[in-house]
Amino acid sequence: MIVLKIADLRKSYNGKMVLDGLNFEVPKGEALSIIGSNGAGKSTLIKCALFLTKPDSGSIDIFDSRVNSMSQLKLRKMRSNVGVVFQKHNLVPRLSVLSNVIHGSIGEANNKSILPLSAIGRWTHATAPNSIRSKAVNCLRMVGLEPLALKRADSLSGGQSQRVAIARALMQDPELIIADEPAASLDPIAGQQVMSLFFKLCKEKKITLLFTSHNTDQALDYADRIIALKNGNISLNEKTDALKSEDLISEYG
Ligand SMILES: Nc1ncnc2c1ncn2[C@@H]1O[C@H](COP(=O)(O)OP(=O)(O)OP(=O)(O)O)[C@@H](O)[C@H]1O
Ligand SMILES: [Mg+2]
Repeated sequence: MIVLKIADLRKSYNGKMVLDGLNFEVPKGEALSIIGSNGAGKSTLIKCALFLTKPDSGSIDIFDSRVNSMSQLKLRKMRSNVGVVFQKHNLVPRLSVLSNVIHGSIGEANNKSILPLSAIGRWTHATAPNSIRSKAVNCLRMVGLEPLALKRADSLSGGQSQRVAIARALMQDPELIIADEPAASLDPIAGQQVMSLFFKLCKEKKITLLFTSHNTDQALDYADRIIALKNGNISLNEKTDALKSEDLISEYG
């Protein structure tokens, strides 16, 4: 089964071509890394895939549905099945770790029309329904941070914060996780911990993972396949088993 299919995707900004006709597929359960130097178009690709940015042309299918032709409502539903993690974790600093994870249920709760979004956004660990709170505790356990549930988010290290962002994404029971440079602002050890957690969770839960990186060794260690972007095109699309660190560093490091 193909979870994400990109066909002939083109995107330019101010007349400058960034993505010049990309084609690739991501099968269910695969961990795929998109690599490329600064400005290669990694974030643009992620934004187009989620339709946060409209591509100039080409198609995007997620879970067999054409993203290009989705209504705003369908787009919201699609996004609520995709866990998204960015380089910056965007936690609410003054709220507890647990409250931040609880906010990961906003998309799902909104789909089920349980309450208006603004009401769910005000949920905290003290006011959220029991079922949501216990699910959030469970997600925190999966990232190894249950003991920190009641700490303020702004008291955590960068690596811990990014693990909370992963727990928040897990609240959506995602079938697909898309992460844009999730380890780029972390020190090397915290970065490895976060990437290895991603890889382990995705394999255990059969979640498909698409992450961008400009750390070629992390891509080799935590992806099944690597796609490299260069001059708007895919310059490499290979299983990691077939690749060597030296080759990638010399070309994309
Ligand atoms: N909103 C925008 N408006 C104009 N140009 C943009 C916009 N977003 C990206 N670009 C340009 O598109 C190109 C690709 O940018 P993008 O952020 O996708 O690269 P990247 O591979 O994610 O780089 P990095 O490794 O620095 O994150 C760059 O030249 C960038 O300046
Ligand atoms: Mg980027």
